[in-house]
Amino acid sequence: MEKTVKIGLLGCGTVGGGVIIVLNENKEEIAKKAGCKIEVKTVLVRDKNKLKPEIEKYNIGYTDNLDDILNDPEISIVVELIGRVHPAKEYIEAALNHGKHVVTANKDVLADYGKALFTLAAEKKADFQFEGAVGGGIPIIRPLRSCLAANKISSLMGIINGTTNYMLTRMTEDGLSYGDALAEAQAKGYAESDPTADVEGIDAARKIAVLASLAFNTPLTLKDVHVEGIDNIEACDIEYARDLGYVVKLLGVAKNDPENGITANVYPVMLPKNHPLASVNDVYNAIYVNGDAVGDAMFMGRGAGRMPTASAVCSDIIDVSRNILFNACGRVNSNLFEKKKMCPPDKEMANCYFRLLVTERPGVLAAIASTFAAQQMSIASVIQKNVMDNGTSAELVIITNKVSKLSLDLSLRTLQVLPVVKKVCSVMRVEDPKL
Ligand code: NDP
Ligand code: HSE
Repeated sequence: MEKTVKIGLLGCGTVGGGVIIVLNENKEEIAKKAGCKIEVKTVLVRDKNKLKPEIEKYNIGYTDNLDDILNDPEISIVVELIGRVHPAKEYIEAALNHGKHVVTANKDVLADYGKALFTLAAEKKADFQFEGAVGGGIPIIRPLRSCLAANKISSLMGIINGTTNYMLTRMTEDGLSYGDALAEAQAKGYAESDPTADVEGIDAARKIAVLASLAFNTPLTLKDVHVEGIDNIEACDIEYARDLGYVVKLLGVAKNDPENGITANVYPVMLPKNHPLASVNDVYNAIYVNGDAVGDAMFMGRGAGRMPTASAVCSDIIDVSRNILFNACGRVNSNLFEKKKMCPPDKEMANCYFRLLVTERPGVLAAIASTFAAQQMSIASVIQKNVMDNGTSAELVIITNKVSKLSLDLSLRTLQVLPVVKKVCSVMRVEDPKL
C-alpha cells in the first residue's frame, strides 16, 4: 500500500480532536478499508500554545496560517471543523479554489451557502462531503444522496438536535429544571458554542434546510424554515402531554405536497407514546423518511458529541480518499436541480395544543371558542385543570382539529389581546393520526 492521502484539518476543538483520535487509533483498519493510508498532516489552530493534551501525543504539524495548508501540494483534503459561518465559508471556498476536496460538518454554512458551494465544487470537479452536518454519527446525508436516490421523498420528520432532546429527556424523566438540563448538555459537548442556536431551534432549522434540500432536490435555506424552540416549554406542558398519552419532542418536519408545495418547520410537537420517534431519548437523534419506493425508513444514532460526529466526518474522509484513488472525485452531485414552491400558510395544516391562563368566570370558554370559530378552527378537546390565584384564574388546555398555519397565527393574535386571556402560555403541534 503505497499511497497516503494527506489531510489539512481546520479547527481542533470537540469534533476536530475526535477526527485526529479516530484516524490515528483506527489507522490500520481504515487503511485496509480505504485502500490507502490516511494521515492528518497539518492542523490550523488559532493558538499553537493551547493544544489539548489528548491530541498532543500524535505526530501532527500545527499552523496558525491557512496558506500553509492551501499551498501544500501534498494535502488533498481539507476538513473544515471551525464552525459558524465566517470565516468557515471563505475557508471552504479557498480550499476548493486551491484544488482541494472538502469535508465539513458545518450546517451553518450549508444552510446559507450550500447551493453556491455545491456549484463551486462541481466546477472544480472536487468532492464536497458533509455527513457530520446533520445527525452527528447517524448516516443520513449519504442515504439521501445515494441509497434513497431512486425515491420521490414525500416527508422527513426528525429529532435532529441532540442538546434539546437530551434536555427534554432529562426534564421529562428526571424532573430537571431547564437551566440544569442545558448546563449538563453543554458539559457533555453536545451544545453549540452559543447554545441559543440549540434551544431556539435554529440549529435544527439549519439541519432540516439541508435535509429537505437533498430530499426534495430544491435549494432551501434557513430563511425558508419556520422555527419555534423549546424555550417556552414548561414542566406542566410535559405533564399535560403525559396525561394525554403524548411525549414532547423538538422536531424538524419537512413535507413535499406536490399540489401545495414544500413546508419546512422546526417546532415542539406532542407525539403519541407509540410513535417510533417518541422513544428516541437522550442525545440520540432519529430521522424518519418516507419515499415512494422504500416506504418508511428510520435512521437513528447519537446526534452529537465528539466521537459520533468524528465517525461521520471520517467516513467522508475515507469516501473521498477512495474517490481520489480511483480518480472518481465529484461523481455525486448535489441534486438541487429544481426550484419548488413553498406551501402558502393557508394550506399548511396541523392539530394544535394551546395552554392558556384565563379569567375564571362563566362565558370565558365561549369567548375563546368564538375566537377559534372566527378562524374556522374547531376544537377537538378541552381540559380545565388548575384553578389558581385564589380562584380568579384557571389553566385551559385545548386541542384543536386540523387548522391552517394562517388560522393559527391569526387566532393567536386575537387571543393575545382578548380580555379574558391572561396569557397564552404555550402552543404546540400535535402529530396524532387518530385526531
Ligand atoms: P468547537 O468550538 O469545539 O471547536 C471549534 C474549534 O475551531 C476550536 O478549537 C476553535 O479554536 C477553532 N477555531 C475557530 N475559529 C478558528 C479559526 N478562524 N482558525 C482556527 N481555528 C479556529 O466546535 P465543535 O468541534 O463542536 O464543532 C465543529 C463543527 O462541527 C461545527 O460546525 C459544528 O456545528 C459541527 N458539529 C458539531 C457537533 C458536536 O457535537 N459538537 C456535532 C455535529 C456537527 P478556539 O479554541 O481558539 O476557539
Ligand atoms: N449542537 C448540536 C446538537 C450538535 O445538539 O445536536 C450537533 O449538530
